[in-house]
Amino acid sequence: MKIDILTLFPEMFESPFGYSLIRRAIDAGHVNINPISFRKHGVGKHAMVDDTPYGGGAGMLLKPEPIFEAMDAIHAENPDANRRVILMDPAGKPFDQNMAEEFSKEENLVFICGHYEGYDERIRSLVTDEVSLGDYVLTGGELAAMVMIDATVRLLPGVVGNESSILEDSHSTGLLEHPHYTRPAEYRGMSVPDVLMSGHHGNIEEWRHKESVRRTFERRPDMIATLDLSDKELQWIEEFKTEE
Ligand code: ADE
Repeated sequence: MKIDILTLFPEMFESPFGYSLIRRAIDAGHVNINPISFRKHGVGKHAMVDDTPYGGGAGMLLKPEPIFEAMDAIHAENPDANRRVILMDPAGKPFDQNMAEEFSKEENLVFICGHYEGYDERIRSLVTDEVSLGDYVLTGGELAAMVMIDATVRLLPGVVGNESSILEDSHSTGLLEHPHYTRPAEYRGMSVPDVLMSGHHGNIEEWRHKESVRRTFERRPDMIATLDLSDKELQWIEEFKTEE
């Protein structure tokens, strides 16, 4: 996969993608991450990238030309690529795991990161997705793009060594993940549940499933409401309610 990032601050991406799994994914050739400064397509001898809004109003807007020209260059390099063009925008659709899964299937992703008050509206004609990291306003789209790229790249085949751990992640199954424990069996008065040390795989699976349902029920009733629960899961939920 190739990921192009249109930004005024390409250096911001060096550190987050310079370590750990994403770094290894880049080194192994699973992904090519390419921050591009669209200032090089700025207008006039001052290479302007922003301007005041027609009709008046506060703040500056990103001009269309630098973004259109940067997109022309990306398109010229590989005209036939399967490409998603993703605009970072606090007014966009909220990012989630399903979106990361969709993005991970594309050949080329282009993230457009804005600063200032917003975008000239014509820039939206270039994009396939307008996406927000969440219901808050950042100083620019870069941090949002980093998060979305991280969540997407870890889903590429071969990036996370143990593929089954991806399938069990919170948000992949529709439930939050169950609790995990490692050695020591007892620490500062807190002990590991007996079932996990019993060696009985059936009971362990059942305990994990039940604790996933409990966590989701307690923390994310909005997620529980969207699930088609089995009779057993519904029965567990009745139990949790009486425990409260
Ligand atoms: N730019 C500023 N805030 C943002 C957000 N919440 N998501 C995406 N891009 C942004």
